[in-house]
Amino acid sequence: MPENLEPIETASIDELRALQLERLQWSIAHTYDNVLPYRAKCEALGVAPTDIRALEDLSKFPFTTKDDLRQAYPFGMFAVPQSEVVRIHASSGTTGKPTVVGYTRNDIDMWATVVARSIRASGGGPGDKIHVAYGYGLFTGGLGAHYGAEKLGAMVIPMSGGQTPKQVQLIQDFEPDIIMVTPSYMLNIADEFERQGLDPAESSLRVGIFGAEPWGDSMRRELEERCGLDAIDIYGLSEVVGPGVANECIETKDGPVIWEDHFYPEIINTETGEVLPDGDIGELVFTSLSKEAFPVIRYRTRDLTRLLPGTARTMRRMDKITGRSDDMLIIRGVNVFPTQIEERVLAVSGLAPHYQIRVSRDGQLDVITVQVEKTPGATDADDAMLAGELKKGIKDYIGVSAGIEVCEPGAVARSEGKAVRVIDERD
Ligand code: DLL
Repeated sequence: MPENLEPIETASIDELRALQLERLQWSIAHTYDNVLPYRAKCEALGVAPTDIRALEDLSKFPFTTKDDLRQAYPFGMFAVPQSEVVRIHASSGTTGKPTVVGYTRNDIDMWATVVARSIRASGGGPGDKIHVAYGYGLFTGGLGAHYGAEKLGAMVIPMSGGQTPKQVQLIQDFEPDIIMVTPSYMLNIADEFERQGLDPAESSLRVGIFGAEPWGDSMRRELEERCGLDAIDIYGLSEVVGPGVANECIETKDGPVIWEDHFYPEIINTETGEVLPDGDIGELVFTSLSKEAFPVIRYRTRDLTRLLPGTARTMRRMDKITGRSDDMLIIRGVNVFPTQIEERVLAVSGLAPHYQIRVSRDGQLDVITVQVEKTPGATDADDAMLAGELKKGIKDYIGVSAGIEVCEPGAVARSEGKAVRVIDERD
């Protein structure tokens, strides 16, 4: 186990649960007293902060949804006067207005603490050089990583996303130990290394802290082999804090540890809202335990996963996210997530992990076409064979028929942040 862990990371379960209950009581009272739309929901259900006597009592409280936040745009869910808010971020929805979130000075400090803890869990420490290629700006990735890295005592290289040739140049010149970036943009950076005649595995990078989008274990192997680093999963979302809600430990790499002293997780049945036992797959729901400006009670993330017991830390882990309920495709009755297609693409040697899924309609039925690049070494003569192999893999493992289009290296749109995996061509 690494040195310098915070005491709570290895506290007993009883200590952790006691702290959570105390903080939960505070957080619910704080939200009820100061966030009028949430108080109205509680009143409609007939629950009040005094009803929280045990952690299980949380299930009596109403959920908070993305739609609640949209209706309160921009500042209607803030729990403190604007004069106490030192930062805002916003997450761009696919449609309509963004969701705005705010932080007091204490919130920024808590966020930096959990990101510093995340980097430490990933194998980083004071004195490391950390190249941040998450976007800076309204997106929480860049600044969230930045403050955490500084708090840890690392040297931050605030590169942000984009300018891919320059990313490579700075990695070569500044020799960072750690990179924080989306896994899809890391692949793009690795391609740029090769375009410049360099081997990404030879770079100074020792660890990649990858998140902001779903990625599976095949992608972990691909990134680790190609880039010569340990690929660690960081999870988070703007509404809860940003990056650093959960992070994997390098010694186990068995799913992100939820920093439960600040974010209380539940898994619910997406349809009924019923709380499911640990181990069951469902929708992840978070309650913030210490946030001041923008507390959330039972926020429905729409991310699908399950809770697992603690291993490297006392706190529970989450399994890698299967996908978002919004991204689930239903093809002839079969649920399909982009990460499942990604697994199959990575299983075919000769195909590169650059792909997009187009969904269109054939009469009453949805059909999918996977557009995927071949690797630079593959020739045109390989196209039909590669397409056949992927089609078979998708049929055998996922159970659906997909059209396959094998295209030239570079043909699939590249991400500089979160990759767009699904193009919906239905009306
Ligand atoms: O993506 C925060 C973040 C930045 C996390 C940098 C990690 C690294 P949002 O833009 O609000 O915030 O998007 C949150 O992204 O609900 C998930 O669907 C997805 N997501 C984030 N991390 C992971 C991950 C940031 N490690 C949404 N694995 C979440 C899978 C992830 N999905």
